[in-house]
Amino acid sequence: MNQSYPQYVDIALQENAISLWKAKQLVAFPTETVYGLGADASSDEAVARIFSVKSRPRFNPLIVHVASSEIARRYGEWNEKAEKLAKAFWPGPLTLVLKKCGVLSDLVTAGGDTVALRIPAHPIALSLLSAFNGGIAAPSANRFGRISPTCAAHVKEELGDAISLIIDGGACAVGLESSVVDLSGAHPLLWRAGGISRAQIEAVIDEPLMLSAVTKGATLLSPGLLESHYAPTKPVRLGALHCEDNEGLLAFGTPIHTNSAYVIQLSDKADTTEAATRLFASLRALDHAPVAAIAVMDIPMTGLGEAINDRLARAAAIKN
Ligand code: TXA
Ligand code: MG
Repeated sequence: MNQSYPQYVDIALQENAISLWKAKQLVAFPTETVYGLGADASSDEAVARIFSVKSRPRFNPLIVHVASSEIARRYGEWNEKAEKLAKAFWPGPLTLVLKKCGVLSDLVTAGGDTVALRIPAHPIALSLLSAFNGGIAAPSANRFGRISPTCAAHVKEELGDAISLIIDGGACAVGLESSVVDLSGAHPLLWRAGGISRAQIEAVIDEPLMLSAVTKGATLLSPGLLESHYAPTKPVRLGALHCEDNEGLLAFGTPIHTNSAYVIQLSDKADTTEAATRLFASLRALDHAPVAAIAVMDIPMTGLGEAINDRLARAAAIKN
């Protein structure tokens, strides 16, 4: 990661965060992917607060954040693939779904028998989590269905006074949520494309990841699959080959010609990792700009392109 974070959290701030967590309150904190809205994962009362502040449906399970794989093993049944992936990518933007064990609020797992676990690669997150010495449930710190926050100001804009503490750890270096890989069944599944590419994950486990777009009967197995999500208030138009004067343009590589005054470049060198870092902040900025719609140039599926295209497809989906 080429971005520099503040390396230490102020001790008084950290103590404040830990006491709030122990008192079943919410604290927003930085990770390398997006900002998280954290609560004690063992407390129903604390976790219920996350759902209510975010207006998030209760059937949507949360990721449990921990400081070490030893702590992860308290909550998830470890296996060989988990060992390989954790060694390769933790701390980092990878979430592992394992059979649940240990004491966690049922709200975290939405009543299911699996749990999603991750060690974030941000010095402040790690410091907070190791001081807490347990699991912190944390979805992205935005209102349900909206664009994920990649800096403290976005959290303030999304959740403002609804939470007691927002810890500022700078801009997120990855900018996209973690990849969610399910290792609880016979075959590994990619529930959500994210900050570690499919190719990187497959290389480590030496096995293809099955497609995530699977539902069991009428039950949505990973509600990360909800269609409209990451949504600006303006319409989003994908694969743009032209851009009207009154549209904002999200460019990738050489920009298409436009008279619009609102052009944001995701990556002039057409690099998907750089584009991922800027994606959410750019969508948010164009959403605030005086434009009628957001036109987005085509982005290839290589590297983090799969995750970027996933988020863009949801941003463009019709809201219901
Ligand atoms: O990068 C991230 O993962 C961020 C930061 C804060 O760590 N967190 C995040 O959390 O994106 P959230 O709640 O917005 O997304 C959690 C994702 C959803 O797609 C959810 O469906 C999936 O993880 N998930 C959680 N538990 C699961 C489980 N037991 N089985 C399958 N999917 C699960
Ligand atoms: Mg989210």
